[in-house]
Amino acid sequence: MLRVEGVSAGYGSFQALFDVALAVEAGEAVAVIGPNGAGKTSLLRVVSKLIEPRTGTIDFDGHDLAGLGADEVTALGMAHVPEHRRLFAGLTVEENLRMGAFLPAARKQFSTRLEHVYELFPRLAERRDQIAGTLSGGEQQMCAIGRGLMSGPKLLLLDEPSAGLAPVIVQQVFDMVQRIRSEGFTVLIVEQNIQQVLRVVDRAYLLEVGRIKASGAASELLASDDIRRAYIGL
Ligand SMILES: Nc1ncnc2c1ncn2[C@@H]1O[C@H](COP(=O)(O)OP(=O)(O)OP(=O)(O)O)[C@@H](O)[C@H]1O
Ligand SMILES: [Mg+2]
Repeated sequence: MLRVEGVSAGYGSFQALFDVALAVEAGEAVAVIGPNGAGKTSLLRVVSKLIEPRTGTIDFDGHDLAGLGADEVTALGMAHVPEHRRLFAGLTVEENLRMGAFLPAARKQFSTRLEHVYELFPRLAERRDQIAGTLSGGEQQMCAIGRGLMSGPKLLLLDEPSAGLAPVIVQQVFDMVQRIRSEGFTVLIVEQNIQQVLRVVDRAYLLEVGRIKASGAASELLASDDIRRAYIGL
């Protein structure tokens, strides 16, 4: 589904990613874990072509993404749920969801997908007419993920969906990710909440200062002494 090879990227003279390689197969949920500033957001942005890689190749669903812009990548079936949710705070829940289905192909399926998102997240259905800016943090995250699903993506990118949420809500966010997985969506998720994300994905990559430092089955990483010592604090 997604194959990233030899990717480096940065901002001006600053290099944020060095020779990154990763792959996500159809139906898998894969996490990129790592501390603050490791380059997790930069990695997702380079994958969805919000920033251009300096070297390397990105192949998505059989397409080489070289030269394509973010809108073209969206049209190929990738949805990027950005850091800090970025909802239209003054619009209602349903209006925000509508924004996720802006492409002509998605517009035709708007009602079916809306029903599906409301089935997946009944709370959003209850709040469909509420102004998004007045939702709780967890509900806003739900709305942001729902908006991502409205394009009917083959691959969903999630950038730290649990960030800034209270512990009890964090668990609800990971439950949402589980639900999305069980619907058969392919997911690439970036997280600092390492212990919890490793319980809901198949595999993970550890990113440190722009480089992949380890990778493996989620259960192996969860059991790894190095990772536990460095990141989980147990
Ligand atoms: N627009 C930008 N211009 C310059 N440097 C940037 C920009 N965005 C990010 N960086 C730098 O790139 C590095 C990686 O940042 P990035 O946001 O990708 O990390 P992250 O792992 O997502 O961090 P966090 O966990 O805080 O979200 C950091 O050193 C950051 O300061
Ligand atoms: Mg980030």
